[in-house]
Amino acid sequence: MAPTREDIRQAIIEAGSDNTEMFGFPEKADGLHLQQDPDEYADFVHFMASEMPPAKLGLDIGIASGGQTKFLRDYYPIEKTLIVDIGEHPKFPHWQRIKPTVRSEIVFEMIADSHAPEVREALAPFAGQVDFAFIDGDHSYKGLKQDIVLAKTVAREGALFILHDTTAVEDCARVAEEMKHSADFEPIRDFNRRFGISVWRYLAKKGPEQGLLSRLLGRIDI
Ligand SMILES: C[S@@+](CC[C@H](N)C(=O)[O-])C[C@H]1O[C@@H](n2cnc3c(N)ncnc32)[C@H](O)[C@@H]1O
Repeated sequence: MAPTREDIRQAIIEAGSDNTEMFGFPEKADGLHLQQDPDEYADFVHFMASEMPPAKLGLDIGIASGGQTKFLRDYYPIEKTLIVDIGEHPKFPHWQRIKPTVRSEIVFEMIADSHAPEVREALAPFAGQVDFAFIDGDHSYKGLKQDIVLAKTVAREGALFILHDTTAVEDCARVAEEMKHSADFEPIRDFNRRFGISVWRYLAKKGPEQGLLSRLLGRIDI
């Protein structure tokens, strides 16, 4: 039987949070260190598992412990995965323990600043193949937009883009607002109980390339 939303919520609690006070459920030393609100994240994972088609190639930008990368894939099938993280989060060392338990083949892992040109170059062989991107790295207005553009360089038309903290972080909310006016994105769902998880479909009308005016003005078009 498919797991219910309540089953998923219970599994989130059992997996353990990153910080008991901040996330409202106990941290576990050998757990997943999830940086999520249990209700909001249960709604999201249940939605992905029950309403979205399985993914072939996922990209996660910003993984911290990697607990979220693992947890989602226990319920929502993603055949292969690409990872980009700067590796500076205090919980990042857990990734070495959690990685072997991820139900997806990790075919690319780059521990670097996602904005570095080398990351874009290294991801280039995956152009047009990514059908799921979870973007939760740099939370600044410009940094998040750069990550969206990076994900576009590898995404195929129709790919799902997930943004985290679109309620809790003002800069992320501002980017999500801009996405509503982008020809490249169609909003699918918003989970807004606490941090904000928003789900978008990438329409690939404009793509990642920046126009001359944007480049001259130092603007990033998403
Ligand atoms: C909020 S945490 C990710 C939480 C994780 N997705 C989860 O749900 O548990 C943000 C992560 O992004 C990483 N990060 C921040 N800026 C980055 C950048 N410019 N390039 C790559 N990773 C970055 C941080 O080191 C951290 O691991």
